[in-house]
Amino acid sequence: MEEVLPVDPRKDVTAGADKKAGGDGTEIVLSVKDLTVGFGSNIVLDKLNLDIYRGEILGFVGASGTGKSVLMRTVLRLLPRRSGSIEILGVEYDAVSEEERMALDMRLGVLFQHGALFSSLTVKENIQVPMREYLNLPQELMDELARLKIDMVGLAPEAADKFPSELSGGMIKRAALARALALDPDLVFLDEPTSGLDPIGASEFDNLIAKLRDTLGLTVYMVTHDLDSLFSVCDRIAVLGKKKVLVEGTIEDMLACDDEWVKSYFQGKRARSIVREDEKAAS
Ligand SMILES: Nc1ncnc2c1ncn2[C@@H]1O[C@H](COP(=O)(O)OP(=O)(O)OP(=O)(O)O)[C@@H](O)[C@H]1O
Ligand SMILES: [Mg+2]
Repeated sequence: MEEVLPVDPRKDVTAGADKKAGGDGTEIVLSVKDLTVGFGSNIVLDKLNLDIYRGEILGFVGASGTGKSVLMRTVLRLLPRRSGSIEILGVEYDAVSEEERMALDMRLGVLFQHGALFSSLTVKENIQVPMREYLNLPQELMDELARLKIDMVGLAPEAADKFPSELSGGMIKRAALARALALDPDLVFLDEPTSGLDPIGASEFDNLIAKLRDTLGLTVYMVTHDLDSLFSVCDRIAVLGKKKVLVEGTIEDMLACDDEWVKSYFQGKRARSIVREDEKAAS
């Protein structure tokens, strides 16, 4: 598994690439164009378009089964696409060599919806999986790095030698986040990071994500069903529906949208109570 790369693995393969910018000059770090993905006759995504800007926390929502996880896995090249292009950190995936692709992959962190951690490995060993896969570091240095990541996500040092079965749901999510951050990525993909957590645990996790974005300069792509997260930490929201991004923008844009699903989701009873709490806090 350990591999010595022929180039400096931290080399920025995108350094020479043209930085793409959105209309207001913000750098685009992920650009998906006309993406079509399907399984047999089931077309899940049809000519979908999406841009993500550097430094933002993008909340990605949509009814269950609409293809949120499929989109994330396709962007990470874990699923094949029928057509369309994907550009990450200024690099077109299809246009790079295997070696450059590996360097690019290192700049992406992932927290999957299911199977967040390897159950047979301790937290420390889980965090070291990406390090072993991409870097050739001495064990002592990997131990030190794992300690740093454990601290960064707010886990106690003792968590390092625990197995996932010995952790609470919230601790597992934090440990999985530590693993996603193992290689100091630029862009992290989080698939339902707060599902299964109680509201307090979920809100602490949201605050952690926001703090890490601010301190590490991360860009965060977060699939979520959690309205609290959408209202409190997401800068922008994209809604998946009808095999496309139906609408994207701020919470205000969502509240003004007249699509039936978007309306019932963002203007439902639960959403209205969050808006009221926000207004109370602001006054
Ligand atoms: N590997 C696969 N093979 C065949 N069909 C798949 C595969 N992965 C996903 N699908 C199908 O793609 C569709 C979208 O699934 P996906 O997991 O992306 O939904 P989701 O939006 O993430 O839902 P949830 O909110 O419940 O997590 C579903 O119809 C699912 O059955
Ligand atoms: Mg999913």
